[in-house]
Amino acid sequence: MDVIHTVAELRARLAHEPGNALVPTMGNLHEGHIRLVESIRPQSACTVVSIFVNRLQFGPREDFDKYPRTFASDCAKLAAAGCDVVFAPDEAEIYPEPQTYTVEPPEIANILDGAVRPGHFRGVATVVLKLFNMVAPRAAIFGKKDYQQCIVLNNMARQLALPIRIILAETVRAPDGLALSSRNGYLSAPERAEAPQLHATLLRVATEVHAGKRDYRRIELSAMAHLAERGWQPDYVAIRRRTDLMPPLEGDAELVVLGAAKLGATRLIDNLELAAPA
Ligand code: PAF
Repeated sequence: MDVIHTVAELRARLAHEPGNALVPTMGNLHEGHIRLVESIRPQSACTVVSIFVNRLQFGPREDFDKYPRTFASDCAKLAAAGCDVVFAPDEAEIYPEPQTYTVEPPEIANILDGAVRPGHFRGVATVVLKLFNMVAPRAAIFGKKDYQQCIVLNNMARQLALPIRIILAETVRAPDGLALSSRNGYLSAPERAEAPQLHATLLRVATEVHAGKRDYRRIELSAMAHLAERGWQPDYVAIRRRTDLMPPLEGDAELVVLGAAKLGATRLIDNLELAAPA
């Protein structure tokens, strides 16, 4: 496995790798990331994993500084998973000058997580487009745990005609249902015991929708109230169309319920795809 820190070295290493695939990450890798690597490896001649904590997607009061940097253990996990190239640039390599040209996603970037984290998806889309230009992958894979990010990036790749196949992978969960996330490491022991309740709440929403209930606003509010009673601070529980994350219209059947809530100081997100019965 080659560990590369500069764009020049990366381009030299990949010059004869037309079939490479990219797994973009911010490091602090867990089983969810490793599954992304394992699932894309058989489809790519060369698997590249980027590790870069992207300041542009963090708000001024968010956890950029305390975001865990675990480079040595990340590399050990990636070597064991069969990764071919780790691209780990520093900030000056990705942002050698102030990033005044950015990707401005449409309205989807301003709802749900985008409403709570203004500018977040601009930062994500901008760095992912830069990574695409640096790695020139034929395919890239993202985990559905960050569902809104997946839709923003998938739509960006399609609308900008990027020659990259975007693969969206299922969320990997702990045995108790908690979606794996680098931020789970911030939870205290009692918070970790409570954390699967976010998934459990979304499962209850799914059960109601699958039972044919159509009063989505009532279902969302009651799910948020349930979390609040248990000590969470919910930002939203929202039943949306999968394609653009807008509220479903009559007849929309392909849905997703997304939830975001703070448990103590840690903000968790999760989602479940649903199908409304005809
Ligand atoms: O999902 C993440 O880890 C990040 O948002 C990404 C896609 C690597 C961009 O920084």
